[in-house]
Amino acid sequence: MNLDAIRTISSAEVDGKRVLVRADLNVPAKDGRVTDATRLERLVPGLKALAARDAKVIVISHFGRPKGGPDKENSLAPVAAELSRLLGAPVALAPDCIGPEAEKAVDALQPGGVLVLENTRFHKGEEKNDPAFTAPLAKLGDLYVNDAFSAAHRAHASTAGLADFLPAYAGPLMMEEIDALRTALEKPQRPTAAVVGGAKVSTKIPVLMNLLPKVDKLIIGGGMANTFLLAKGVTVGKSLAEPDLADKAREIMDAARSRGCEIVLPTDAVVASEFKAGAPATTVPLDKVPADQMILDVGPASVAHLIDVLRGCKTLLWNGPLGAFEIEPFGAGTFALAKEAAVLTKAGKLVSVAGGGDTVAALNAAGVTDAFTYVSSAGGAFLEWLEGRELPGVAALAKRTA
Ligand code: 3PG
Ligand code: MG
Repeated sequence: MNLDAIRTISSAEVDGKRVLVRADLNVPAKDGRVTDATRLERLVPGLKALAARDAKVIVISHFGRPKGGPDKENSLAPVAAELSRLLGAPVALAPDCIGPEAEKAVDALQPGGVLVLENTRFHKGEEKNDPAFTAPLAKLGDLYVNDAFSAAHRAHASTAGLADFLPAYAGPLMMEEIDALRTALEKPQRPTAAVVGGAKVSTKIPVLMNLLPKVDKLIIGGGMANTFLLAKGVTVGKSLAEPDLADKAREIMDAARSRGCEIVLPTDAVVASEFKAGAPATTVPLDKVPADQMILDVGPASVAHLIDVLRGCKTLLWNGPLGAFEIEPFGAGTFALAKEAAVLTKAGKLVSVAGGGDTVAALNAAGVTDAFTYVSSAGGAFLEWLEGRELPGVAALAKRTA
């Protein structure tokens, strides 16, 4: 895949054209209201720019995981309303994304106007990337813009298939995400560190294997660190761990050693007897984890060491928290390291790129999201990129045939 072959919409002629923008409107919502509009806020400048250039902006997206037919619960109505509020302009919602109703709504759209088409996943052909669905969708636009990096790991009609039917371009958000990941992974300023955290090693093995040859320091935290500790003979009490993967952890540590990548594990831990808010917590060295307690965060000695490691690095890639940050007081380790990363970034000493659902929630809780060089709006797509996999939505833009 040649990422440099991707064209961006900023250089295309859009005046009076029908521009089909694949956005990711899949935002958290409850009882018909959007509860976190971050993804929409990031999308808005790109949509505004297109509207200002007199394009007819037709936004398409999936929402939730409907079963291939319409259902009220997964209607984009509340999202279109929120988008309208953020744009400060009316946004109509067409009741279907293909067929006569969609065509009528598109025909009525004026240059500079924004229209949302109802959930693409209301049609089975979307997830099957079925040309019988893609063709009538493509009929609604003159150009196709994919600005949904966070859905680019799906090989669906609206995320990939459309590039075979229409002249295809990347939107500004798509470009930002790709550029940030390339900056951190392709030609980073060295030394580089990656923080890989989260509950389980099993879900992160491909990430660890892909990052090993690319980074100088691999900081492992969260529940998954316990499996590495187990593999080194540490007794982890009642902690979450995957003993079946101890051999795999040893293999990863051997691979790191032979590649000159240093794996950084915690040296002390915050433990408690249960995973509950306000559970009495104590700090222990790792050779003293009581049999009836569980590790829920890295301890202060680990934090001090991690801060030292970070100060010696010029690039940081972060995916996954160091501890059970959602519950007091087990976020301290994650927050302290995140704050240090923010300080170093602001001082121009560190390029910091972070992504993944939990990671963004942790950075938000630490109040440092804005201080990072780049925080991805993607979960699964960010992870698959870190695994070194080709994302179908990105590949479709790089090999565009139309
Ligand atoms: C996301 O929220 O991760 C993307 O919108 C993709 O959604 P999906 O996992 O339902 O494909
Ligand atoms: Mg998802």
